[in-house]
Amino acid sequence: MNKTFLITGASSGLGEIFSKSILDIAKTIIAVGRNKNKLVKLKKEINKLKPSIDVFIISTDLSKEEGLKKLFKEFEKQKKIKFVDVLINSAANFTVKKIDKINLKELKNDFQINTISPFMISKYFGLKMKKKKRGTIINIGSSSSYDCSENTSIYCSTKHALLGMTKAFNSELKSYGVKSIFIAPGSMKTAMGRKVKNQDFNTFIDPHEIANIMKYLLINEKSMSIDELKIKRSIYK
Ligand SMILES: NC(=O)c1ccc[n+]([C@@H]2O[C@H](COP(=O)([O-])OP(=O)(O)OC[C@H]3O[C@@H](n4cnc5c(N)ncnc54)[C@H](OP(=O)(O)O)[C@@H]3O)[C@@H](O)[C@H]2O)c1
Repeated sequence: MNKTFLITGASSGLGEIFSKSILDIAKTIIAVGRNKNKLVKLKKEINKLKPSIDVFIISTDLSKEEGLKKLFKEFEKQKKIKFVDVLINSAANFTVKKIDKINLKELKNDFQINTISPFMISKYFGLKMKKKKRGTIINIGSSSSYDCSENTSIYCSTKHALLGMTKAFNSELKSYGVKSIFIAPGSMKTAMGRKVKNQDFNTFIDPHEIANIMKYLLINEKSMSIDELKIKRSIYK
């Protein structure tokens, strides 16, 4: 397999771990994040392990419309890659705040990064996939796409919307060979997971296990299709 991947949130956590887990199936990795230094480090690490993989980095802020435009512009600027086989929407922000403390700016910011950017990125690459009649989009949801807990109203709303968006893309693009897969993990041992209070971090899911599942789905896709996966912790404390 010589696939081209575009991974948002590649600079940290699940996106970073997934980027390093696909070296045997990737030809090209477009790593998207905000922090350029972390993306450069990732590129070096990947190329140390496998020099033949082309790693392009795009550093941009997906909470802003200009940041979204920059992603498309940077993609179009390089002439080498015309098509992305697998799009991973992993970048997200997790705001912990009571409803009465939330303002419109924060709400819009997180909807932009968690829902609107994934929608527009999926539209951009999904329509190219539709033309080629192949391609996979993986959207990283959350247990908050189904249930909500106190102080996470923005995150919960954006992740519910992301689930709706994934279903909508399947209803329009699946018949053209473009799959949208929703992965909804519970709390994970990442920087974002550290923000989850009143739960035992030691019981959180190892993101390597989630990355393994994502890869498994991409390898085993000839005759089966999994639209939605809810992944819970084995111990809840
Ligand atoms: N951790 C959990 O407990 C948990 C549970 C369920 C679902 N999830 C979901 O899993 C996915 C990965 O999260 P994670 O745990 O790996 O979190 P993480 O380690 O905090 O990584 C978040 C990633 O999103 C990027 N990002 C954040 N804001 C951005 C912005 N404005 N523009 C561009 N990129 C931005 C970060 O980039 P920079 O580092 O460059 O800023 C980073 O690469 C997310 O969709 C999250 O909602 C997480």
